[in-house]
Amino acid sequence: MADRRRLRTLLLPSPPLRQRFRRNLLAWYRRNGRDLPWRHTDDPYHILVSEIMLQQTQVDRVLPKYYEWLGKYPSLAVLAEAPPADVSKTWRPLGYNIRPKRLQAIARQAVADYGGRLPSDRETLLSFKGIGAYTAGAIQSFAFRKRAAILDTNVARVLFRIFVGKGDPKSHAVRKHLWAVSEAVLPHKHVFDFNQALMDFGATHCSARRPKCDDCAMSRFCRSAAR
Ligand code: ADE
Repeated sequence: MADRRRLRTLLLPSPPLRQRFRRNLLAWYRRNGRDLPWRHTDDPYHILVSEIMLQQTQVDRVLPKYYEWLGKYPSLAVLAEAPPADVSKTWRPLGYNIRPKRLQAIARQAVADYGGRLPSDRETLLSFKGIGAYTAGAIQSFAFRKRAAILDTNVARVLFRIFVGKGDPKSHAVRKHLWAVSEAVLPHKHVFDFNQALMDFGATHCSARRPKCDDCAMSRFCRSAAR
């Protein structure tokens, strides 16, 4: 019985439910989405820099550094050639200082193997050290406008709350399921806005500590809404 119940919670959302979720999320984003500089570019390098910076740092701290970084290292080629000590110093206030080293290693590999560009296909992106499944999906959907799913901590929390509700969100089985949910709910059009909307919805509305369930378009079908 417990097994059967668990299997039921790990079913993918039905097509009508996917549709409702997409519509509600995009409507929410039109009203509440943040105007952020990496939403006005499709330069893969700019997207990469923003995503690596945002991995462990809040948006308001990333913003000034994002501009400073791109001013100093305007391309993968310039970053690849920059003195590592300089790169680390530019990054430093953001913390988690392995990230600038990874970013520079990605830049060097892009210059050595791909003519100074980031590739657009998932397998090649994943072959770069420092580009994992989330970052590959972000680069594909934000820079190349491909239909690629994303799943980071915020997105996983949103999809878990709405479509799963019970169980251990960190377990391997649930994590794998959440990737499948992220793929299932992804629309065919508006992938860029949809994925950005997922990020914002998780960061500002369905936040870890204070989800705004009282004023939420998803609460009618959310499996975790406080009713
Ligand atoms: N965190 C990670 N990626 C993000 C993005 N593209 N927009 C806002 N917050 C983010």
